[in-house]
Amino acid sequence: MENNKEYAIQVRNLTVSYGPKPALLDVSFMIYSGELVGIIGPNGAGKSTLMKAILGFVKRDIGDVYVFGKPVEQTRGMVAYVPQRGTVDWDYPVTVYDVAMMGRYGHIKWWKNASREDHEIVERSLEMVRMSDFRHRQIGQLSGGQQQRVFMARALAQGAKILLLDEPFAGVDAATESAILDVLAEAKKAGITLVVVHHDLATASEYFDKLLLVKQRLYAAGPPSLVFRQELLTEVYEGRLKVFTDLIKA
Ligand SMILES: Nc1ncnc2c1ncn2[C@@H]1O[C@H](COP(=O)(O)OP(=O)(O)O)[C@@H](O)[C@H]1O
Ligand SMILES: [Mg+2]
Repeated sequence: MENNKEYAIQVRNLTVSYGPKPALLDVSFMIYSGELVGIIGPNGAGKSTLMKAILGFVKRDIGDVYVFGKPVEQTRGMVAYVPQRGTVDWDYPVTVYDVAMMGRYGHIKWWKNASREDHEIVERSLEMVRMSDFRHRQIGQLSGGQQQRVFMARALAQGAKILLLDEPFAGVDAATESAILDVLAEAKKAGITLVVVHHDLATASEYFDKLLLVKQRLYAAGPPSLVFRQELLTEVYEGRLKVFTDLIKA
């Protein structure tokens, strides 16, 4: 059965270093089209670096990244990305609508001639994240969770078949959490492949079909029931595991 499925992402023997110690070491995995995948692991494990590698944003020491079978360098625009909060300049003087439209045009300078279809896609994307009512608001005047949703709308408006989200649930309010979960469900229904860095082990097995457990190396990849094993989590989370022991069913 799995032979019929298309690979959205293939990572082979990936090593990435910023300095002497690699941030990622010999990481290999595959993600099928339409999967909803969570990347878990402690702080500094290389989760954000892995996302950047799938976007082609970091230099690889060794290894290959393929997106729908093509080398990542040839796949610009096929993958949409919502960065970790705190990495974006929110003082940028643009409206919610402008930010979502950037998903169509990359930059507001170019969207004077946006087509009716572009506007429809932007409206739909804002509806999906429940931010239509805020369309004229300056992005800097929103809560962190609302800003996050607008950046998700921008990614959706891009029309990419793969969506990467770096810790979208970190520090958001309940309204945003539920809006994001709805977006994940709807995007999955639409056949979009979703890869989400997630810091909260308590919800990881509930939210995702498949998990990648990362700490420099890939420790496990598969359904949550396979990844949530005592010896694996003990090794990866070390002393911090006590908090999580009640999550392990084995
Ligand atoms: N631009 C960078 N320059 C130097 N070191 C970096 C850079 N980005 C990340 N690192 C280092 O690489 C490791 C992995 O970081 P990161 O991918 O951000 O981890 P995570 O997202 O899991 O917290 C960490 O040790 C971090 O300090
Ligand atoms: Mg990170």
